[in-house]
Amino acid sequence: MSDTIQQYKDFVLTGFVKAVQPVVVASAEGCIIHDASGKDYLDCFAGISVVNAGHCNPKVIAAAKAQLDKLIHCASYIYHSPATGELAEKLASIMPSPRLRKSFLANSGAEAVEGAMKAARLYTGKHEIISLHASFHGRTWGTLSITGNQGRKKRGGPYAPGVAFTNAPYVYRSPWPDDPRRCVDFWAQSLEDVIHFSTAGDVAAFIAEPVMGEGGIIVPPLDYFQEIKKVLDRHNILFICDEVQSGFGRTGEMFAIEHYGVEPDVLVTAKGIADGFPLAAFTTRDEIAASFKPGDHLSTFGGNPVSCAASLANIEYMLEEKLCDQALEKGQYLMDRLNRLKRDQPLIGDVRGLGLMVGIELVRNANKTPAAAEAEAIRDLCLAAGVLVGLGGVYGNVVRVQPPLVISKEQLDRAVGAIAHALEQVRTKVAPSTV
Ligand SMILES: Cc1ncc(COP(=O)(O)O)c(C=O)c1O
Repeated sequence: MSDTIQQYKDFVLTGFVKAVQPVVVASAEGCIIHDASGKDYLDCFAGISVVNAGHCNPKVIAAAKAQLDKLIHCASYIYHSPATGELAEKLASIMPSPRLRKSFLANSGAEAVEGAMKAARLYTGKHEIISLHASFHGRTWGTLSITGNQGRKKRGGPYAPGVAFTNAPYVYRSPWPDDPRRCVDFWAQSLEDVIHFSTAGDVAAFIAEPVMGEGGIIVPPLDYFQEIKKVLDRHNILFICDEVQSGFGRTGEMFAIEHYGVEPDVLVTAKGIADGFPLAAFTTRDEIAASFKPGDHLSTFGGNPVSCAASLANIEYMLEEKLCDQALEKGQYLMDRLNRLKRDQPLIGDVRGLGLMVGIELVRNANKTPAAAEAEAIRDLCLAAGVLVGLGGVYGNVVRVQPPLVISKEQLDRAVGAIAHALEQVRTKVAPSTV
């Protein structure tokens, strides 16, 4: 056993995962991870959808190294850090609306979501939050309170009061899987009902991921957010858009909400923001930002100069290389190939995605019984074949393909080949009555 695996067993707290995958990552570049034992893996999970511009992108590394030589930390909210200011200006320039101008820079998605909730509450003077079933917003107590998934919340409650949940825009598991329009009308009405029957009428914000990542790559119909926004506007409820997983080109637009033509009041980012450096942000309008008064907020490491310099280079690389267009085109290519696979593979219940945020939902039968063990087996077989994919979904039955956006079509072919082979192996091992 390698020293690292032994050290993990002895000294790293990992009881919260079934198993740490048996890969000791020594180095990586682009879409390839090199294991300490000399084996290479094609990375189709990108460190949970983080290294969108590829592992160890040379431009990002150069910018971070240059910053390292100048300044690592100064407390970016006590003193002025040039990299922090420049990044905030750059973020304003790529937001879906010019009104989203002011950013608070933090360290993790959860911290940024917490800040976004605080912003909404301070600005509106209201206190409650509405969130979605199947959502995921982080692991702090506040973000778990607005997470709609018992699998993530168990053993941590009771959670914060003042949170209500409404249906996820999950067409495949809705009563009308072939009629998204009817689903949208129903979900808009459900939101009205939740406001009337499950809240005190004191709702500051509705929070949603424009594409739900951990919940199983749930892609809402394209008119969903417009209909939801009408309800929110009627009740003066802000819309917090959690782009932690879907942002930075992942779905073929810089931010996934751009597919939906709706302007959020607060937009939260992390993961792909700095190609692997720890950084997050919430970005909002001037008047909402102005509701913060002295003492209301801060973060020691927030806006760290090295992470900010890396992020700036990352965003510039994305724009230069048109990574959004690449994600859109390659995502379509991947979806076409997976949909072809679906025709011959009864285990595949649904293939869905936007850009390179793609999920394959596995089911055992026409009743859509989730095939979680099978999804796990496919993840493991792919790993053995040198391809890393993720798992997700509220039932644990969604294989996630979220590679670095720089992946080539040949590499995508290899990934699909590994998934197809794994599906075949799993299908022939499972008793026919369960398939
Ligand atoms: C949509 C979404 N929000 C928030 C988070 C939490 O981010 P972090 O793990 O950086 O705290 C995640 C993490 O997976 C996420 O997918």
